[in-house]
Amino acid sequence: MKYEKYGLVNTTAMFGDALSGHYAIGAFNFYNMETFAAILGAARETKSPIILAVSESAIKYMSDDILMSMIDAAHISQNENVALHLDHGHSFDACAHAIDIGFSSVMIDASDLPFEENIALSAKVAQYAHAHGVSTEAELGVLKGQEDENTFSDTELYTNPSDVPDFVSRSGVDSLAVAIGTSHGAYKMKSDKQQLRFDILAEIMAKTPDFPLVLHGASSIPSHLVQRINDNGGNIQNAHGIPVHQLQQAATTNVCKINVDSDSRLAFTAAIRQNLAVAPQNFNPREYLAMAMSAVYENTIDEITNIMNSANRI
Ligand code: G3H
Ligand code: 13P
Ligand code: ZN
Repeated sequence: MKYEKYGLVNTTAMFGDALSGHYAIGAFNFYNMETFAAILGAARETKSPIILAVSESAIKYMSDDILMSMIDAAHISQNENVALHLDHGHSFDACAHAIDIGFSSVMIDASDLPFEENIALSAKVAQYAHAHGVSTEAELGVLKGQEDENTFSDTELYTNPSDVPDFVSRSGVDSLAVAIGTSHGAYKMKSDKQQLRFDILAEIMAKTPDFPLVLHGASSIPSHLVQRINDNGGNIQNAHGIPVHQLQQAATTNVCKINVDSDSRLAFTAAIRQNLAVAPQNFNPREYLAMAMSAVYENTIDEITNIMNSANRI
């Protein structure tokens, strides 16, 4: 298996442990050296399993060589429980490519296709992935908001629990992203009082017990980060994330993987804005990027500990 040479693991044992231990594993997106070092460093500091998530556009931004060289240089060992995961792969070729360069887990996101076509494409990816020891995630239902640089959805289509057993058994995937009211980006909920649909989640769990589920669009959008951005020249208004207590509740269920990108983006941006605002004479990127890196590190430690409840699980 290609990914073994990098000390990576697939998500099978990780999800088994998360299910029986009633916690979740954070899948944190990275796209440069700073976010990579911050997220891996936070996992190491907290002794937590971690999923390092990379979107198709982030792979393109970093290039295969730089991305995999960073992974190699981190000297990850298998007992650290680190998976490298393709986030929102939109085609068989994108997933196969990630597997070929050393990813240990891939998501095929065919949720915008009709049901049967979603099954067929997810099954094709799962077959290729399993032949290489790689785990596969698929998605059923559509999340509102910006999914990635290429996809936007303004409708909310919850996962229909009755579709799940058929989808899971015929596609052969190892985990399933479900739509229960989360959405991508910083403008998720109308207010902090809006509820995730735990009733739908319970129905899905009743129909597919012990099957690992995934929440996308699960950033909590910490208000102190939004405030720090706005206090230093930014303009982010009416941003609401998923309330922390709802994420904590989700983490105790069959939700084994909780995806976070926007929170890290906010932490990164807040630190840079603040540094440049208080030191307008500064033009040394290493200074403000170091602050951005430590802001992402601190936020990731906080979420691993207080949301995922995955600290000290290694
Ligand atoms: O859910 C998607 C992620 O936030 C990745 O977004 O394509 O801008 O890297 P990206
Ligand atoms: P957020 O935009 O809520 O951080 O979601 C990230 C995500 O789902 C990545 O796949
Ligand atoms: Zn996502």
